[in-house]
Amino acid sequence: MAVGRTGRYLLRACMLAGLPAVLAACEGRQSALDAAGAAARDILVTGWALFVGGTVIFLAVMGLALYAALARPERFPGRLSWVVGGGLLFPVVTLTALQIHEFGLARRLAVLAPDPALVVEVTGVMWWWDVRYHADGADPVRGANEIVLPAGRPVELRVTSADVIHSFWVPSLAGKIDMIPGHVNRLPVVAERPGLYRGQCAEYCGAQHALMAFDVRVLPAGEFDAWLAARRRPPPEPATPELARGRDAFFAVGCHACHAVHGTAADGLVGPDLSGIGARPSLAAGTLPNRVETIAAWIQAAQHIKPESRMPSFDVMDGDTLHAMAAWLESLK
Ligand code: CUA
Repeated sequence: MAVGRTGRYLLRACMLAGLPAVLAACEGRQSALDAAGAAARDILVTGWALFVGGTVIFLAVMGLALYAALARPERFPGRLSWVVGGGLLFPVVTLTALQIHEFGLARRLAVLAPDPALVVEVTGVMWWWDVRYHADGADPVRGANEIVLPAGRPVELRVTSADVIHSFWVPSLAGKIDMIPGHVNRLPVVAERPGLYRGQCAEYCGAQHALMAFDVRVLPAGEFDAWLAARRRPPPEPATPELARGRDAFFAVGCHACHAVHGTAADGLVGPDLSGIGARPSLAAGTLPNRVETIAAWIQAAQHIKPESRMPSFDVMDGDTLHAMAAWLESLK
């Protein structure tokens, strides 16, 4: 009896200790178990059905195996029907039903809206993301390492790669899709609720694969329209002498050769577009939180933070100039 009671206490303790951890793991901005998109929800429902169904079948088979091992043969009648029913008919019926469901799901997940109001082109580059928004027939709006989406509207993502194979995955919103050089893959996405989500490259693509992440900001549709309109306007003039000095340093050092800032003379295409960088949640493809200090650290020590990336470490500036440049970039919102 004592063992039984200890066992029950142990079980309860495990549940108390484990349950919050398990539940916490289900939430979060990069979780396939916390669906915030139509496609992710479809995948999640199928995933749970497979998990629960698989668990029930596993327990049933283990129970039967135990019974068969312990019971006397004469207490296990109709052996042939067990073999035919459980070993042949049951798997054929369940797997066929599952296959039919999967075909339907795969079809649904790939259905593209005939004339999407918003197409977002995402190109994987070692190790960051180039993003272009096509809407209203106007010139595309460029961004990087962050995708801003309107809640509730169907969006078509067109993904490709500039170098090696990457994989685009925002678990909260949709399934993953390969980014292949010379080929465009299309992924329909409907983000259901506003929020901040996280995507991650899901295919090993070199030394800094692990530091190739991005943020997805889902805004209420009206706010998204305002955001897109703001992205089309040039940034305001620097509000303080320090910010002006920072902007001048940006051009003096030559940052504009690789980076673009919409509405200024900076139109480089090699590196991430920095228009509105101050509003992004993170820096360097999800590597650092976005603050003036981390922008300065990244400019000064990019090769230390993300070795082999194409961003050189600009450790030649004095501290004031570096800070001014970082402050100007952070002011671009
Ligand atoms: Cu890109 Cu892994």
